[in-house]
Amino acid sequence: MDQIIIRGGRPLEGEIQISGAKNAALPLMAASLLSAEPLILTNLPDLADITSMRHVLESLGTNIQCNGEQGPDSTCTMQSATITETMAPYDLVRKMRASVLVLGPLLAREGHARVSLPGGCAIGTRPVDLHLKAMAQLGAKINLEDGYIEATAPDGGLTGGQIVFPFVTVGGTENALMAATLASGETTISNAAREPEITDLANCLVAMGAKIDGIGSDTLKITGVSSLHGARYAVVPDRIETGSYAVAAAITGGCLKLKGTRLDLIGSVSDILRECGVDIEEDTQQNCLTVSRTNGPIRGVDIITEPYPGFPTDMQAQLMALMATATGASMITESIFENRFMHVPELCRMGANINVHGSSAIVRGVDRLSPAPVMATDLRASVSLVLAALSTQGESVISRVYHLDRGYEHLPEKLAACGAQITRVRNS
Ligand code: UD1
Repeated sequence: MDQIIIRGGRPLEGEIQISGAKNAALPLMAASLLSAEPLILTNLPDLADITSMRHVLESLGTNIQCNGEQGPDSTCTMQSATITETMAPYDLVRKMRASVLVLGPLLAREGHARVSLPGGCAIGTRPVDLHLKAMAQLGAKINLEDGYIEATAPDGGLTGGQIVFPFVTVGGTENALMAATLASGETTISNAAREPEITDLANCLVAMGAKIDGIGSDTLKITGVSSLHGARYAVVPDRIETGSYAVAAAITGGCLKLKGTRLDLIGSVSDILRECGVDIEEDTQQNCLTVSRTNGPIRGVDIITEPYPGFPTDMQAQLMALMATATGASMITESIFENRFMHVPELCRMGANINVHGSSAIVRGVDRLSPAPVMATDLRASVSLVLAALSTQGESVISRVYHLDRGYEHLPEKLAACGAQITRVRNS
């Protein structure tokens, strides 16, 4: 298994190109199942999760051709002219929970889907009950058997319905939205997630001929159409990658120009960073942000994770690393996932002073973290360890970096280009 070795203590200076958002790209890829015509996606990131989704789609009959370019010039054409299989097997789904996003499109287009239950993951049990209730509201019959979701639409296909989510679910909203585009009649999704990735999906579906009102709000109204056509669509910039590199600038006392991204995508994160002393400037002409720490030490601030537009759970670990080096204390409350503090013991091994009480962590800033061998436990936890290591004087070794490959495109290369001493080594 590969390791990342970081010799920290240098302020990072330079430019980083922000990739397309993993969490937008995955549902957009699943949406290609909704049409027989090609969906051409640009700005698709080169990530392990994207490869996993590609394998799932190919197993269902989607033809995928990519031009081999990276970044904004990357183009992947996905065509599901005929769906040859409506079963997403355990072996593929277990690698990535987001594979469950093929459920809605398969059901809507083919009237049937058999998708492995994704099971739990390191950050919590993460059930899909709300996805299933949403499909049932569109008329589907759902059975759970042998670890699989067996979903069947009535004769004549899915029918529009009223979907009311009791709490916000990103994946549930995406599955419901995709299914509803081809359901006959009107569907209303209430308490829909408002994450930029949902807006991206909705905009792409509209480009494919879907009729959706209320995009960007918590109430989506969809009028079903009989078929969707092809489209060309650029994946939105990754707001979590943007936020993570903003923290890299802050924690090292450096200055980074983050290219190909937007301030509006990271509103709550930039508010918090500014509150704790980080300077963030947007250049809308050049489509970039400049993040620097010019106002002295980082100040501790309190954070609660919430659905968008609140502070994202996917930035909680990175902010905790920053708060570990702040002046004063901060309280970080995780309200989305029940087990998302696995980075805490690892940060403590680097000298952080953090105490967890239920869903809150009290972080008392220390002057400087110290290098240590640490282990990545999930995607965002891994990057928090990278950030912490960048702030230390000395060498840290981070194991199990395959988690990073799921969500951060070319992370060592991007950081090294800004002066980080970071290398990836194979350790069998
Ligand atoms: C997505 C993101 C993930 C992010 C999360 C919250 C992708 C691929 N992943 O995950 O990075 O951390 O949103 O912003 O976009 N829940 C249920 N029943 C359900 C569905 C969800 O109880 O049927 C619970 C979950 O366990 C969790 C909460 O609802 O506690 C929110 O989950 P959800 O928004 O659905 O997250 P994902 O779509 O899995």
